[in-house]
Amino acid sequence: MTSSNFIHRFEPGTRLEASPLLLLHGTGGDENDLLPLGQIVAPGSALLSVRGRVLEHGMPRFFRRLAEGVFDHDDVVRRAHELADFVDTARKTHRLAAPIALGYSNGANIAAAMLLLRPQTLQGGILLRAMVPLADPPAADLSGRSVLVISGAHDPIVPAANGAQLAAMLSTAGANVERRVLPVGHQLSQADVTLAKQWLETRQAAADAAVSG
Ligand code: MLT
Repeated sequence: MTSSNFIHRFEPGTRLEASPLLLLHGTGGDENDLLPLGQIVAPGSALLSVRGRVLEHGMPRFFRRLAEGVFDHDDVVRRAHELADFVDTARKTHRLAAPIALGYSNGANIAAAMLLLRPQTLQGGILLRAMVPLADPPAADLSGRSVLVISGAHDPIVPAANGAQLAAMLSTAGANVERRVLPVGHQLSQADVTLAKQWLETRQAAADAAVSG
């Protein structure tokens, strides 16, 4: 097992019924980056925030790339499984339900790869500026999983068609996918925060209603 040695931060939740979040930073980020975002969009949720183990000129990432937007597919597969192993172990340690991944850029891409390769590890995902991580992933069963894909209409790194292709891929695998396109570039905007928070609140309200019958 490779699972024990991801640098990470864990913040226990104060609302036990709320889904935990798995926070995955963009290239050059670390485990501290998305904690404030997680606290805003999911107040009271347990937060597991992980640092990518691949270094590109000293910048942490979650998998190797050959050029911007050109991925080393074997490495994507290997790293997605390593991260999923880590999350599965952390879930046991902290007694967590399957988390919702909240990933930005490279972090959103590894989250998409995990959804396709290890669907049992995650409950769903909020994928911010994500692209297709694997050209030809194995068939996955994502039924019961919900995914929000938020793209930027003017993103110079992720072509609009690529974000749409990812959403279609996840949806074909059975996930309940919502895709939104904002009039922004690759950077995050306030609208991302608002949409992510609303999407989580709607999901939680539906889950609460299902429990109370
Ligand atoms: C990636 O490498 O995952 C994407 O190009 C996004 C990025 O990290 O710049």
